[in-house]
Amino acid sequence: MCRGGSRRFLLLYATQQGQAKAIAEEIGAQAAARGFSADLHCMSELDKYDLKTETAPLVMVVSTTGTGDPPDTARPFVKKIQDRTLPIDFLAHLWYGLLGLGDSEYTYFCNGGKIIDKRLQELGAQHFYETGHADDCVGLELVVEPWIEGLWAALTKHFASSRGKADGSEAPEGNPSTPLTSPVMPAPVSIEAQTQRLSLDESAGSGAQALEPDAVDGGQTGAPDSMPEPSLTRSGPPLALATLTIPAPPPEYLQVCLEESPGQEESPVTSVDGAVHVPITRAVQLTSNDAVKTALLLELDVSKSAFSYQPGDAFFVICPNRDAEVQDLLRRLQLTAQSEHRVLLGIRADTRKKGAVLPQHIPRSCSLRSILTWCLEIRAIPKKAFLRALADCTSDGAEKRRLQELCSRQGAADYSHFVRDAGLDLLGLLHAFPTCRPPLSLLLEHLPRLQPRPYSCASSSLAHPGKLHFIFNIVELLPGSPGATPRRGVCTGWLATQAASVLQRGKHVSPADADSGEAPAPQVCIAPRAMSTFRLPDDPTVPIIMVGPGTGVAPFIGFLQHREKLQQQLPGHSFGATWLFFGCRHGDRDYLLREELRRFLKLGVLTHLKVAFSRDAPPSEGAAPAKYVQDSLQLHARPVARLLLQENGRLYVCGDAKNMAQDVNNALVQILGAEAGLGQLDAMKMLATLREEQRYLQDIWS
Ligand code: 2AM
Repeated sequence: MCRGGSRRFLLLYATQQGQAKAIAEEIGAQAAARGFSADLHCMSELDKYDLKTETAPLVMVVSTTGTGDPPDTARPFVKKIQDRTLPIDFLAHLWYGLLGLGDSEYTYFCNGGKIIDKRLQELGAQHFYETGHADDCVGLELVVEPWIEGLWAALTKHFASSRGKADGSEAPEGNPSTPLTSPVMPAPVSIEAQTQRLSLDESAGSGAQALEPDAVDGGQTGAPDSMPEPSLTRSGPPLALATLTIPAPPPEYLQVCLEESPGQEESPVTSVDGAVHVPITRAVQLTSNDAVKTALLLELDVSKSAFSYQPGDAFFVICPNRDAEVQDLLRRLQLTAQSEHRVLLGIRADTRKKGAVLPQHIPRSCSLRSILTWCLEIRAIPKKAFLRALADCTSDGAEKRRLQELCSRQGAADYSHFVRDAGLDLLGLLHAFPTCRPPLSLLLEHLPRLQPRPYSCASSSLAHPGKLHFIFNIVELLPGSPGATPRRGVCTGWLATQAASVLQRGKHVSPADADSGEAPAPQVCIAPRAMSTFRLPDDPTVPIIMVGPGTGVAPFIGFLQHREKLQQQLPGHSFGATWLFFGCRHGDRDYLLREELRRFLKLGVLTHLKVAFSRDAPPSEGAAPAKYVQDSLQLHARPVARLLLQENGRLYVCGDAKNMAQDVNNALVQILGAEAGLGQLDAMKMLATLREEQRYLQDIWS
């Protein structure tokens, strides 16, 4: 905290996985050396700063999460600035610079930062420095480092052009809303500026390189065709290496030591706030054996943990990587014998990465096996920067060249096809490029944190005191590399294994079994996920419409259990209409919790249950069957529109983000348009208003 410092600036970060925080801390650390004082806060700490009265320049580092949202920690801030009642000059006094983080492999690149940038502009705030967009796909540092470097000059200029008090906290000279005197700073920071031409000394055979510091046009000449064919061969001729634009090599910065005696191990899951291990008390297969996907219900005993939950809340599941994959990786790294050794990390003294910090997600005193098992997303698709570093550790010339092609700008289509779309992970790559032998330090630098996976709870604690239910499909993945066998998703595969051992122990297991000499019940590590808006209305008379095909029905089971208990507790009380639109493939294979849903209907907890069967024959001649939930919605357009537009109802959607949620959204636009007599644009606006009023809520995943 440096309030009142002579060249003070406010430094905010909005982080999801810690990267934006680490970068902001780096800026904060450099600030002092540059003669500035940074007032550093997480964006969520709204009580620590006030943009309305802020006179110092603002620097922000904002990451992106999900399908293009600001991180969870930015939500209160975004909500505040998105208040439509704010006047358009609300922030006209504010000067700011923003660094957005994202991944260009996703559609809405850097959208978290873009949303904030756009809104600050709408409110009259002005840039004192160009916005930077750093791309995790090619390596964040390609933009982050020059952006930070340019920031100091921009701040210096900003303070120089400020007049008045010695603390330099006033706006720059002139009317801040007139950009003429705006100290807008150096040219935009672009990834292109950081790429380099690589020429390969073919005669050296080993792929010795010379780097030339200019961007090139990507012509294709001089490709040697006598190279042995490496794996993942492209269909066309090889790209000419001499003209490939390959990102600058990522700076290596970690020093890794393996110490023989691990001693007391730090728990690898401590980095997740509120994480607790809880026993699994019940597992139920919800689908028949001939269903396309297998859905499971897990019941956890949370009676001894401190948290409470509401229906609709989500929890993180902290899962390990598959043991066989960890073993395989250890083998590939030739570190099997050292798997129980303790990993000691340091920053290399000679690193080119200025201000490098140790990765936050790797505990300081943990065995190599634990780190590979619990901390690193070993199935992550390697980014191009990682491929570039892997190429440097590959001895065979053809393999090395192919890896360089894949990470070059000209090889973008190949990268998408062979790596990203094929889901080729590190192990797949090491199999395909057998002479690639990366050091452990490289993996620790490049593999992202093994993310806890959010799951919506499928129960109400009123109905199941001390218990928490999850419902999920076991994810079956296509083979990650040619010839490999299909695999399960990391988390659902692991949960399925835990469920299988529960089922083997007999359908019902008591946590007291541990005392009776039996092996303890399988456990799962979970942590509450903060800030859910996906909740039942406080007022039970408000009508609700729930749309949840497949396992998207999970939170609604919790809603309905809760409503059932409320109805028992409040006899005679009136409850709003309660609609559920459910969808599955076959009535007799994957109609999840059919009996429970029918029971809710019989009790009147559910007033309308509409089920669409996507692969069953139509029920009767001439009937207009609904294939999907959005078709059912269309079939009931009139009551749906009435509940939303006239009766202040709420609509909840849960499930697949990519297709279903989009199709449901389109159906709603049509329904509102037709029923309210509006054009498409106005219907879309109406839906946007419902969303803003939190009457159209989504809990969706891809
Ligand atoms: P399908 O796989 O037979 O096409 C649960 O997964 C249900 O959601 C299944 O019946 C599945 O149908 C259906 N589903 C698939 N795509 C959908 C979409 N775009 N919108 C709504 N439901 C969809």
